Amino acid sequence: MIIDRQDQVTEAVLQAMAAAPDARLREIMESFVRHLHAFAREVRLTEPEWEKAVEFVTGLGQATTDTHNEVILASDAVGFSTLVCLLNNGDAGNTETAAALLGPFWRMNSPRTEHGGSIVRSETPGDPLFAACRVRDIAGRPIEGVEVDVWHSSPTGMYENQDDSQADMNLRGKFMTDAEGRFHFRTVKPAGYPVPTHGPVGKLLHAQKRHPYRPAHLHFLLYKPGCKTLVTQVFVDDDEHLESDVVFGVTRSLVGRFDKREGAAPAPDVAGPWYALDYVFTMEPGEAVLPTPPIK
Ligand code: BEZ
Ligand code: FE
Repeated sequence: MIIDRQDQVTEAVLQAMAAAPDARLREIMESFVRHLHAFAREVRLTEPEWEKAVEFVTGLGQATTDTHNEVILASDAVGFSTLVCLLNNGDAGNTETAAALLGPFWRMNSPRTEHGGSIVRSETPGDPLFAACRVRDIAGRPIEGVEVDVWHSSPTGMYENQDDSQADMNLRGKFMTDAEGRFHFRTVKPAGYPVPTHGPVGKLLHAQKRHPYRPAHLHFLLYKPGCKTLVTQVFVDDDEHLESDVVFGVTRSLVGRFDKREGAAPAPDVAGPWYALDYVFTMEPGEAVLPTPPIK
């Protein structure tokens, strides 16, 4: 098609793509082109702005390494990752979901840890946290034999792979639920942290006067054949950034109750205040698939 006016371009592109044999690719690309063209028309995108956009996308690739994915971070920072998560969980986004973003710090092969064991693997000053969790199905019955991966940042807001002062696999562990669907562990209360700001996403946040912080949270990945793998996070209820998570990951049901306690703790070495978290995870029936680890 030879084009006379701007309003013919969209149709020309749609025609050019119409013969794609993969129906889903056809559907996705057709909608993508329609919305992309509509966006350019709506904001009357200028040529310098288009060049800036190209520079931004190029920068996402250039800032991506084996240990950091700036493309995912960009998707996170505009709420796209959370939107896709909510659209695909909790009855296709119609009900509250137990799922949340995987984030960039999950590592496969975290150490198997006994029921009630500690995931503090090197000196990590901070408030002790004792978590008592249960896993149930949608009918409320306990699920035995769920493999549960836990990982989180330290009380200074650093994951072990970002921080030379922490041992390998510090604050990471893998548990197995018992016959009552329970898993318990000891750790330290995590702190919130800023997402990486060295790349184009950091520049964008700065230009938008947005802070880069995530509220403190624990990550969980629950896996058992016959159940839909549950990737989620539980947020610390006293965090100042709960309402303004830079990646929009906080849903109401994911805010845990972190009870501050004094006196007798579940471990004799605890002298000062400590925290208790009770949390119940609900797994849906479905496919047990593991995500691709963002880092090794
Ligand atoms: C995280 O929870 O670890 C995370 C999620 C999105 C961007 C950066 C960090
Ligand atoms: Fe995290």
